[in-house]
Amino acid sequence: MKIHPTIEEMRAASRAARLGGLRVGLVPTMGALHEGHLSLVRAAKSQCDAVVVSIFVNPLQFGPNEDLAKYPRTFDRDCELLAQEEVEFVFAPSPEQMYPNKSVTWVEVEGLSQRLCGWSRPGHFRGVTTVVSKLFHIVEPDLAFFGQKDAAQAAIIRRMVRDLNFAVEVVVCPIVRESDGLAMSSRNIYLNPEERKSALVLYRALQQIRNSFEAGERNSARLIAVGQQVLAQEAGIRLDYLEIANPETLEALPEITSAALVAVAGFSGNTRLIDNILLTTNH
Ligand code: PAJ
Repeated sequence: MKIHPTIEEMRAASRAARLGGLRVGLVPTMGALHEGHLSLVRAAKSQCDAVVVSIFVNPLQFGPNEDLAKYPRTFDRDCELLAQEEVEFVFAPSPEQMYPNKSVTWVEVEGLSQRLCGWSRPGHFRGVTTVVSKLFHIVEPDLAFFGQKDAAQAAIIRRMVRDLNFAVEVVVCPIVRESDGLAMSSRNIYLNPEERKSALVLYRALQQIRNSFEAGERNSARLIAVGQQVLAQEAGIRLDYLEIANPETLEALPEITSAALVAVAGFSGNTRLIDNILLTTNH
């Protein structure tokens, strides 16, 4: 496994692989890797000949009062895990390498970037789309792998790829959960035992919404009320949003007629957590 800290090295290595006829897969991450990330790596390994995992805590996507400084950084352990998965390349640039002079160019997916997490984290998604564009240009992957855990992010990146004609196929992989249902996240390590227990209510609320949906309820306001009732039982959670949206446009859906994304975000202590499920009708 080769670790490339510079853009030039990474670009040359990836280009050489593609010129050699290999299908290159990219898994963008911010490190502090867990089984959720590794599921993307395994999907990439099974669909590509050479896999690049990027590890870069992207300052552009953090707000001024967010956790950029304390975001977990476990680079050596991450590299051990990636070597075990037989990843070919790790791209691990410094912030100076990625943003040498103050960049003034942004990539923004209008509309979608203001919805769901974009509403409570202004500027977050344009930070994501800007860095992912840069990663696509540097690595020039055939396929890129993202997690359904960040459903809005995945929808926004799909839209960006479509609108800007990136020659990359976006693959979205299912959410990996702990055995008790908590969606895996690099931020879960911030939770103390009590906060972690409270956090489980997010998935419980989503499951209760699924139950009502499966029992025939299609009205979003009533489904959201079901979820809110579950959330109200857990005083440890401060709800950010619970919404039912079109999975592609992220627009609010008053009634579910085909597919719907049910997305929730809330704070357990000071830690912001997100989760979601997809609901689909049978016709
Ligand atoms: P990060 O939070 O490190 O996540 C990297 C990728 O892993 C994302 O595509 C995310 O959706 C996926 N992922 C995280 N937890 C998961 C889980 N429990 N199950 C399945 N997939 C999971 O998302 C980012 O980094 C950044 O925004 C990035 C795309 C790297 C741009 O900076």
